[in-house]
Amino acid sequence: MLNRDEAIALWRANNDDESLFRHALSVEAVMRHFAVTQGEDPDWWGIVGLLHDIDYGRHPEEHLKHSRPILAAAGYPEEFIHAVDSHGWGLCSEVEPVHPMEKVLYACDELSGFIFACCMVRPSKSVLDIEVRSVKKKWGTAAFAAGVRRDVIEKGAAMLGIPLDDLIAQTIEALKPAAAEIGLKGNL
Ligand SMILES: [Fe+2]
Repeated sequence: MLNRDEAIALWRANNDDESLFRHALSVEAVMRHFAVTQGEDPDWWGIVGLLHDIDYGRHPEEHLKHSRPILAAAGYPEEFIHAVDSHGWGLCSEVEPVHPMEKVLYACDELSGFIFACCMVRPSKSVLDIEVRSVKKKWGTAAFAAGVRRDVIEKGAAMLGIPLDDLIAQTIEALKPAAAEIGLKGNL
């Protein structure tokens, strides 16, 4: 169940969008990072991150309405499914994040996408040299990455009790080891 190759195979059986795959790998990397900092199991957290959007490719309009049957059929336990469902809290699910892992997922799903967008407008197109202040500079520009819910990220940071700047800094660090596979190595 916590075999990464099997998780990737399950993801691919349900999705075929490469940018969505890079998003899945990005969130996996972030989850692994925070699991280590919190003394938790990086495989467990990482695979939740990898599979959190499992039903999005085929059911973008009914996101999270189809993840339970997919994950349950593959043998993932209730607490795994709960974590996946909770990342859409208040958006497309009523399951509130309670476990620290769920709060990290809730906060960092959108944040990893925002950092990706910030990297893409840099000369290097890389996460390897981006700084918190570049991300913060874009934060207040509503037209930039307009689809990213800053309020959700801020709510997630508050749930975790981590200042937003620290959350951004840690998420940047978390993405660096995965830079090549998520398309954020740029020209560095
Ligand atoms: Fe996501």
